[in-house]
Amino acid sequence: MPPSDDASLSFLERVTWLLRRQPHKIDYALATSATPLPSDAALGLRIGAAYCHAMETFQPTASFWDQSFFAAKRNIHDAMISGSVEAIEAVLINPAETSLFWGFDGPTKPPADAWADAETAPRDPHAFVLRNANATADWHRLYGIWLMDSLVSAGEAMGILRADYPEISLEMPRQYPGGLSVDEIIDRMDQMLGLGLQFPNPFPGELGLPSRRGIVSFRAIQALYQAWRIWTLAEGNPDFSVLEIGAGLGRTAYFARTLGLRDYTIIDIPMTNLAQADFLCRTLDPTEVSLFTEPRAQTNILPPFMLSRLDRSFDLIVNVDSFTEMSSESMMDYYDFARRHRTPILSINHEYNANTFREVYTRDSIAKATRYPYWPRRGYVEEVVTWRNA
Ligand SMILES: C[S@@+](CC[C@H](N)C(=O)[O-])C[C@H]1O[C@@H](n2cnc3c(N)ncnc32)[C@H](O)[C@@H]1O
Repeated sequence: MPPSDDASLSFLERVTWLLRRQPHKIDYALATSATPLPSDAALGLRIGAAYCHAMETFQPTASFWDQSFFAAKRNIHDAMISGSVEAIEAVLINPAETSLFWGFDGPTKPPADAWADAETAPRDPHAFVLRNANATADWHRLYGIWLMDSLVSAGEAMGILRADYPEISLEMPRQYPGGLSVDEIIDRMDQMLGLGLQFPNPFPGELGLPSRRGIVSFRAIQALYQAWRIWTLAEGNPDFSVLEIGAGLGRTAYFARTLGLRDYTIIDIPMTNLAQADFLCRTLDPTEVSLFTEPRAQTNILPPFMLSRLDRSFDLIVNVDSFTEMSSESMMDYYDFARRHRTPILSINHEYNANTFREVYTRDSIAKATRYPYWPRRGYVEEVVTWRNA
């Protein structure tokens, strides 16, 4: 039943401001992926070797990613450099019991200083946002509402749902009495994209909305929208080349590949490269994924120092929720690379941190930008920078 009055929504408290519309329902079922990950010693050794090679050259910066987060993930580093396949597999096979995905995705175990009791803490990082916004309500209930709001927003952005219009009715979308189910929304997206859309859940413990196509978790919705956005900028050209900086688990690369893009490069720190390699090699054809020091493939995963060694340009540089978390020197290295090659940048970032992306391009006389709210997640700004002839 759609909530009928404001009183029934009062439990949302500050979570209201994470949403774009009045929820159609207040109780959405959630599901957790349960299938154990099959052991894959060869993949573990491959990922471990790429990590060790990268760490020979990698120089940490002052960013918290290279300082406090690295310290929290130190046991993962130790396992990777141990050369022991058992130790490597123990890290890769059950991310809900390590902090490997901490900072970008779930399932993950929060570091000891992030939650009073790390053993019993939620394994989904979005629980922390929801607890911060409402300390008393069951965060699972709030998470279902937030996930559905984000999915509907992505649907509106993609044009498979009409935009909600609160000036006349709050019970939206008015043209879909009772609201649409998760499967109905995803079916519409799939019809538009023509892909046979799947939401892969290779790791046990991923929490999200259940669907016929897999469990739909928060970052998966963002990634699907982002890949669609990249695809629209590519105008459907499968040879359109993308450099994504700071890619988290690699979900956007996954959806971009399933949309047909076959020249995709990720640059990220070696610790996060581990997570990307584990996710992408288990969800795409692993022979089409290249790790550091391996021959180029359709999807490539590289550490930051490779930026200055790339002897090529790209059609688009993408950065999501990341530029403002790295040192300003790192952000400027990536920006200068884009500027030198006159490569457009798609940035989706919030403006809470000390540095903003806007401050960088507004100081630059040859940069011009569009700037709009990012549709599926409040608080984020979507900017596309292009270059004047100079
Ligand atoms: C908050 S996460 C966002 C990840 C992903 N874009 C998403 O939205 O789910 C920040 C990302 O920036 C990456 N990062 C941090 N420092 C970096 C650097 N110097 N170069 C490239 N990526 C970096 C992190 O490893 C992580 O993947």
